[in-house]
Formats: sequence, C-alpha cells, structure tokens
Amino acid sequence: MVPKIHSLGGYIHEFQKSIANPETFWAEIAEGFYWRKRYDKILEWNFEEPSIQWFKGGKLNITENIFERNLYTIGSQPAIIWEPNNPEEQNRILSYNELFEEVNKFCNTLKKLNVQKGDRIAIYMPMIPELTIAMLACARIGAVHSVVFAGFSAASLADRIIDAEAKMVLTADGGFRGEKITPLKNIVDEALESCPGVETVLVYQRTKLPVNMVSGRDIWWHDAIAGQSEECKAEEMDAEDNLFILYTSGSTGKPKGIVHTIAGYMVYTAYTFRNVFQYNAGDVYFCTADIGWITGHSYIVYGPLLNGAKTLMFEGVPTWPDAGRFWDVVDKYKVNQFYTAPTAIRSLLALGMDHINDKDLSSLKVLGTVGEPINEEAWHWYHDHIGRNRCPIVDTWWQTETGGVMISPIPGIIPTKPSFATLPLPGVQPVIVDAEGIELHGNSVKGNLCIKFPWPGIARTIWGDHERFRETYFSNFKSLYFTGDGVQRDEDGYYRILGRVDDVINVSGHRLGTAEIENAINSHPLVNESAVAAYPHPIKGQGIYAFVVCGELSTGGEEGIRKSIKMAVTNLIGPFARPDLIQLVPGLPKTRSGKIMRRILRKVAEGDASDLGDITTLLDEDVVVKIIDGALVEVKR
Ligand code: WTA
Repeated sequence: MVPKIHSLGGYIHEFQKSIANPETFWAEIAEGFYWRKRYDKILEWNFEEPSIQWFKGGKLNITENIFERNLYTIGSQPAIIWEPNNPEEQNRILSYNELFEEVNKFCNTLKKLNVQKGDRIAIYMPMIPELTIAMLACARIGAVHSVVFAGFSAASLADRIIDAEAKMVLTADGGFRGEKITPLKNIVDEALESCPGVETVLVYQRTKLPVNMVSGRDIWWHDAIAGQSEECKAEEMDAEDNLFILYTSGSTGKPKGIVHTIAGYMVYTAYTFRNVFQYNAGDVYFCTADIGWITGHSYIVYGPLLNGAKTLMFEGVPTWPDAGRFWDVVDKYKVNQFYTAPTAIRSLLALGMDHINDKDLSSLKVLGTVGEPINEEAWHWYHDHIGRNRCPIVDTWWQTETGGVMISPIPGIIPTKPSFATLPLPGVQPVIVDAEGIELHGNSVKGNLCIKFPWPGIARTIWGDHERFRETYFSNFKSLYFTGDGVQRDEDGYYRILGRVDDVINVSGHRLGTAEIENAINSHPLVNESAVAAYPHPIKGQGIYAFVVCGELSTGGEEGIRKSIKMAVTNLIGPFARPDLIQLVPGLPKTRSGKIMRRILRKVAEGDASDLGDITTLLDEDVVVKIIDGALVEVKR
C-alpha cells in the first residue's frame, strides 16, 4: 500500500525527507509495488539534455499492480462505478475481478489483431467503461495508448493519429452528451481519409447511431471480443518504457505529444491520489473530468485503480437533465471525494440553489478543483454550499507534463486559503524565478514557476521531437523545468497560481494555444490574418477574443463572417475552441519589423488600455486607436 500522511507533523517530516534525499524517499514508496525485477538505479537525470530515468532496469507491468497485486483482497469490490448520461438508463458496476476479465479479453483481442508491444493505439471514445478497459489492455500488452478527447474535430484527431503513427483506432458509433449525440464513428471516418497508416478500427456500439463500416478495416467491438479468453499474461515491461502519449497545446505550433513512462508515472499517480484525496478503503471517489485529458488519465483511471479505489465514471454533463446532475450522482452513490474544475463550479453557482437543497451531500469528505485558477467567490460557494462548511477544498495545481498533482493542500492537514494551491507535495521542489532566471528566495515574491528537481511523474519527452521538449521546458531557465505558469508565494509561504505567462489560453480548464486557434481562423478564405487573446470570462475563466483582418466581407456581412469563422475553428479544432468575441479590425498592431505586438491586444481584451507600455516601435498607431474604438469589451483608456 502507498503510505499516507496523517498529520501536519507527518507532512513536514515527509517533505523534509523528500528534499534531503529524494531518491530514498521515492524508493520507499516504490517498495510497495510489485516488480518482476527490482530496479538497478533509483534515479538518473540531467535537465540539460534533458534525460530523466526513474527506477532504471526495473521490470514490471502497471496492470499487475492494479490487478494481480490486489485481487486477493479487493477482487469482489467495485473498481468502476459507471453512471450513464441518462439517469433512466441502467448503471454498470464492475468489480476488480470483472474489470480484470474484461481487460484480459480485450488484450487477447488486440493481440489477435496483431497489436505488438510498442505499437500506438489511438482511442477516441465516449466516457464508458470500455475506454478504461482499452487503456488498461494496451498497458498490459505493452502497446502505447493515445487517448484523444472525443470533443476534438476530425482534423485534430487526424493530426494526432498521424503524429503518433497509430495503427489502430478504438471508437464508438457515437457518444451521448446530455441531449446530444456526437457521431464519433463518422468523425473517425473523416479523419482516416488522411491517415493511411491505420489498419483497423474497432467500433463499440453505444448509441445505435447508423454508421458506415468499411470492410477490411472496421470491426464491431462485440464481434472482435467474442470468444476471447479471460486470461492473458501481462507483458514484462521496462520501467522507462512508454505508457502513453497525450497531446496538449503549447504556445507555438502544433499540439505536443507528451510522453509518460511506466514506473515513475505509476508511483507518482498512486502516491498523489492517496494523499491528495486522503482516500480510505471503501470510499467512493468521483472525478468529473473526461478521460481524454490528463486529469482523467491520472485520477479516474491510474491513480485510483492502483489504490484499489472505487472510481466513479460519469458519462454525462453537469446540466442535463437538470443542473442538479452532479449532486444526484453524489447523493446516489454516497460519494466521499469529489473532484471537478472551477468552470463547472462557476456555471452551477450561477444557476442557484434549487438543485442542491434537496440533495443529501453529507457523505462528502473532500472537495477538489483542478485545471485553472479558482476565484474566491467560487471557492467560497463550493466550500459553503457543496461542502456545507465541513469539507476541506484541495486546489490542486499540476499539468499534463507533470503527470500528477504537484502543489495542493493535504486535506484536513494543511490549512487552506481560498484561491491558493498552498504547499508542494513531498518530493516536489518548486522555485520562483524572475525574467532573468534569478531565483527569488523568501516569501512575498512573484514570478515564473519552475521545478528544480525531477519527480517520478515528470514527462520524459515530446513524441518524435525531443529537441522541442528541451526547448519548451528546459531552455528558458538553466537547469530548471519551466511550467509556463506565473505564481505568487505569499507571506505564509503559500503558493497561488496566477495563470499562464506564455501564449496559452485556459478556457474552461481546456488548454489552447493562441497559435493553434489563429491557424484555424486563418484557414477561413476571407481572413487575411488574426491574433487571439484571452479576456476574463465569468464562467469559463478565460474567453477567447479574436482580432481578425478580413480582405472583404461575404454576402452575410459581418455577422455571416463571424459565424463562418466560428465554424472553421469548430471544424479544425473542436467546439470548445470557438472564439467568444470576434472583432473585425482594419489591421493588427505591428512593429516595424512586422511582429504583432500581442501585449497591446491582450490589454485591450482585458479592458485596460490605460498603460500600453512602450509603443514607439509601432508601425501604425492609428490601428491601435481603431481597435480600441471598436472593442467588444469596455476598455479603460
Ligand atoms: C492550469 C491540467 C491554477 C495551469 C491538470 C497549468 C491551474 C495548466 C491549476 C495545465 C490550479 C492547472 N490553479 N491553474 N489548481 N491546475 N492549472 O495540462 O495554467 O490541462 O499550467 O493539466 O492548467 O493544464 P493541463
């Protein structure tokens, strides 16, 4: 079992131990797992190349640590509690024994279809247990899963399949989301027009939406698994073999395939899950994220299952059939730990108390948030109305690249403060540096958040582009991992995340690169160029404000072009990346050398143009005046 921190003294002790000797600290935790062969070396690293190897030489399989290690004690206990989109439909509860059988059956299916160790499998599925089954089956036979969030468009899915060189795609006919059905298989068909490397598509029937099955390529899931044995020996894997690729947005260029390897990720997600949620045997834990994002990977699938936890998987949306859906689920299953995003809290807060007052939320012990800064109003509402003043809130800061939570209160142990992620977990060594990379010591400082020592869950590379990995995270500040976030350490030494300092926008907890959105907008035939900035949005946290230069207007006029720009973004990325505001402008503010002065656009979007800083290098100041005059938000001059 993974050790659990029980007191403030215990936290301080563990933290100090982890700083004094990180290797032995993590090795003691790694002891609790099942290794086919013990590792030779705990850690080998340098942040220059960078090269990071944890538990080198160790042999294991992560699924043996979920199943074989625990089945004799928890085999008949629920592993996945699945709540469907429609509350009228029958739920599903899979015990660890049942999940194990399903995973094995699917392992044998994949093997029969010629999937080999190291092959990449793209997974584009709704939130159903088969998604988890597929991920674990990949891990068990040594294939590398690359889950793509089922809200991405065909073009984005194709980019990811091509980049990962996936040879198989796992999908469903469709996915239920509230009243809507997403035609997943049709989207896959469209994507595969540009992915000749894909040999097989397995299609799970979820919605009965009619689909076109391409002969020789597409197979119904039920047919493929029929008759497969429920036994499959796990592949022996190297500690540093790849476990999965998950794409995320950066400030430039196309999405990056973040690579996580087996042993370090296993140890880190298991340890952080148990401590951040103070999970106890028998508790019911509910994370509302989609498995298509890192939160779902680490804290619906791997972290909980490695701890033998009961993990609740919810297919639906928070507002259907009504705004009380989350609280219905909490009440129905007597959920003990509840983990969601600030944007969900803000949207439910805005809908009032009618859907909450009649629910029994007394089972809740810990509330969590992740993905974006939580404002104080939302924090207090969550604390008072959902936690009913009894439950500590864990504001967990972390990233796709960190694999698991890095800065967070330990609930009931570290006193919380609204909008603060508080203190680093044991094993995490944050530093704050100024623009020149000078470390800012002491309290009451603000700057760039970096980490100075590796933790087991850190990403190892960007798939197919190690140089980009080095440049993005390890070149800004010497010998430090740079997170891209701004941070404050207050007078008590508590950390508060201030948001991204690069060209990444965080919309409802979804990470989007401005360049990615601009590329999509620029694909519109009438658009000459564009620049995107974030503006404060009451529900989404940040909204997308696009400044667009068009050559001419089509017959639909300004409204028509706005609509078709939104459509272009939906088609190239997905509906969640659609700009909220589109201002048609005569030109963009540029320097004489032709560089867009984004700083100015950010200020306009934020509604404060009173101090634009040095604008002497501007090519044409008049453009700025026109942009401010036509701004879609109120701008202070
Ligand atoms: C932001 C999500 C404030 C941050 C797990 C980070 C947060 C990015 C918090 C990573 C938090 C995440 N408070 N901001 N508690 N958690 N972020 O990769 O900007 O989707 O860099 O991982 O989300 O987003 P990602």
